[in-house]
This record gives sequence, C-alpha cells and structure tokens, in this order.
Amino acid sequence: MGKRGQTSETKEERAVSAEVQEGDVRIDRSLRPKTLDDYIGQTKHKENLRVFVEAARRRGEPLHHLLLSGPPGLGKTTLAQILAHEMGVELHMTNGPVVEHKGALAGLLTKLGARDILFIDEIHRLNPVVEESLYPAMEDFRIDVMTGDGAFASSIQIPVQPFTLIGATTRTGLLTAPLQSRFGQTIRLDFYPEEDLAKIVVRSAHLLGVEIAARAALAIARRARGTPRIANRLLSRVRDFAEVLGTGKIDETIVQTSSERLDIDDAGFDEMDRRLLRIIIEDYDGGPVGVETLAAALGEPRDTVEDVYEPYLLQQGYLGRTPRGRIATRRAYEHLKLPFAGAAGAKQKDLFDES
Ligand code: ADE
Repeated sequence: MGKRGQTSETKEERAVSAEVQEGDVRIDRSLRPKTLDDYIGQTKHKENLRVFVEAARRRGEPLHHLLLSGPPGLGKTTLAQILAHEMGVELHMTNGPVVEHKGALAGLLTKLGARDILFIDEIHRLNPVVEESLYPAMEDFRIDVMTGDGAFASSIQIPVQPFTLIGATTRTGLLTAPLQSRFGQTIRLDFYPEEDLAKIVVRSAHLLGVEIAARAALAIARRARGTPRIANRLLSRVRDFAEVLGTGKIDETIVQTSSERLDIDDAGFDEMDRRLLRIIIEDYDGGPVGVETLAAALGEPRDTVEDVYEPYLLQQGYLGRTPRGRIATRRAYEHLKLPFAGAAGAKQKDLFDES
C-alpha cells in the first residue's frame, strides 16, 4: 500500500462521502421528507413536479416518465418516494445491473398496478437487451416476448398497466440517446446551497429531538459538500459528540470539535479530497493529469472518481477540467496552504486558452 493508498476501513469511515453508507438507511428512513411540502430546496423542479402530479391526478393518468440525474446523495430516491406518495400509488424499486435479463424486466412490469411507479436506480447500467425491451413498455405499455425457435419464432405482446418509469443516473451523458429521448422530462439535481442545507439540518435535528443553534446548523451545512445525505450524516455524528462530550445541545463549538475529530476541514473536505488535490499538485505539478491516471493513483475506480469525488470539487472551483486532463486551481493550492507556482499558473492559463 503506497503512502496515498487507502484501506477499506478508511473508506467505510469517510464521513463526507456522498455514497450510501451503513447507518444511512436508518438515518434516511427517519428523516426523509414524505411530501413535496416537506422537501427543502430544488424549488424550481419541485414546483414543476407539483404541476405534473396535479395534472396526472386530475386526468387519472400516470405521471410522465421522469429521468433524475445528479451526483449521489442529492435526493433522487427521496423524490421518487415523494412522487409515489403524492400520486397515491405504489413505488417499485430496482437497480440497473440487478435486472439481468428481459424475463426479469417482464416480471417487474407485469407486477405493476395502474399508475404505479417503477424506479430504476443506475439506469445507465442496464444491459442493452433489457434496455431495448423497455422501449415498448415506456411508449405503448406493452412487452414483446419471443416464443418458439427458428422458423417457428414469433412475438407475442403482453399488455402492462399504464405506469411511470423514474430512472436515476449520476450523469445523463451515460445514457443512450434512444432511452433518454423516451423520458417526458429530465430533472438535473444541483448541489444544494448552504442556506437550504442549514434548513434541512434544522428540520432533521427537530425530528431527532436534538436542540441545535442556528449557527451550528450553518456550520454543518458548510461542511456538507452541497449534499443533504452528508448533512444528515454529519448531524448524526455531531449529535454523538454533543451527547458524550457536551451537554447534548449542538452548538458551533461542538460542530468544530467533531469536525476536527473526524478530520473534516472547513470546506467539508476529508483526507480523500485533499489526497486527490495533492496528487495533482505534488505528483503532476498542478496538472493536467488524465482521470484514469488520477483514479489509479487514488486506488479508486474511474467512475467513482468522476461521479463521487470530482463533481463538488469542480463545481466549487478547486479542480479544473481541460482538454488534456484535470488541474488543481489556485483555490486548491490556497486551501492546502501550498504556494501557487508561477510556472504552473502560466501553464494553466495556456491550457484554458486552448480549450
Ligand atoms: N432530507 C434529505 N433531503 C431533504 C430535503 N431535500 N428536504 C428535507 N429533508 C431532507
């Protein structure tokens, strides 16, 4: 294991990872909003969804098929659950790679009741044959099943109930064009601003029955990387520190203490984020470095680097994407308290000019 290698233990303990962790399921279940009114943030999308729900209900039709995209932890599953609740229908959940063959998809589709919602997480990972058999189901609410062999082969059509497909993906770019075009609407979830995350933290603290100061909620929000799942996880850990080390009440000091103990800095970065930036700066002279190389140096799959680690660093301007790879920006050097080399600065300017 290299000096920047990572053990599975450190990965599991990563408090600011946006990916689902053990314990999150319990936290999520108790804190998850159940209605659009309870759902904080993403206002524009929320108000549009309210209209689509109302229109579908009035007509007695299913909702339009919906594609939800965005980094992990921003509430794609939560929105699917809320929409099922608002429509008064059942939600059937599955995951792209789990639907291994056409028969498995047919099994799911024929179980649906009228207007039910089928949620397929990681829809970009569907097997192409399964994906193709989804098209007639989405368009005409039917599945085509082949029977017989060779000269005796024929196709029979099985009707399915009118339903809504909600697909979730970390990046719309990973979806095939034919699948993408069959969705009536696409919602791209953005990182939440700090004010919205602070409101989520206050709501969650209230549900957990723990007292929290407004400034402490903001301090948690600031470290949550724009992601409600991380905000709620941090809140839960800070509550542990507050109960054991303090009075039980969450104030700004206990947030600071807990963050230091969890090795999370003021920007919400943990060792993994800092390691990513340090590799670019120290091993590749600030970049550019290809994402494959970066992933290998971090000991993580390329997809994880692109879907989990990079989006927030890019959005916040710590990382830059150039035609020749990733670069660490001046902001990254400043955050790590490293001198921003003049040469690296000049080189970076050229890189951006080229693009
Ligand atoms: N918990 C997680 N995400 C939330 C959201 N968007 N609004 C309210 N509570 C949440």
